[in-house]
Amino acid sequence: MIVYLTRREHFNAAHKLWVDKWSEEKNFEIFGKCANKNFHGHNYDLQVTVKGTPDPLTGFIMDAKKLSNILKEKVCNVLDHTNMNLDDNFLPKGILATTENLVYYIWQEIEPHLDENCQLHSVKLYETRNIWAEYFGE
Ligand code: NI
Repeated sequence: MIVYLTRREHFNAAHKLWVDKWSEEKNFEIFGKCANKNFHGHNYDLQVTVKGTPDPLTGFIMDAKKLSNILKEKVCNVLDHTNMNLDDNFLPKGILATTENLVYYIWQEIEPHLDENCQLHSVKLYETRNIWAEYFGE
């Protein structure tokens, strides 16, 4: 029996999408308002799903509180109220803070800290209620 458990967390962060070697016109053509020079913020909604077989005694695949603490410590507290372009404390240099890149790097941060009897299934990140990216470790 495999069960999927999801924990949701939240952070606010600013970014700007910009490729230095492109002209201003090309940046705005590709990134639209996300290229605005003075940055802008998003209210990010992070949803992380783990999977596994419930422990016969606790009924847990992983303590959801512990999962929450990992997400806060490794991701939300690191990114919350930061400028993801300037603060340079999460994404490698030169990696743009798109939702697609963030889900990959969030996976790398949290995967080593999960309980042994469960696996990370997906990292889903909403940038707005209409745009999100999801990563399954492929
Ligand atoms: Ni944006």
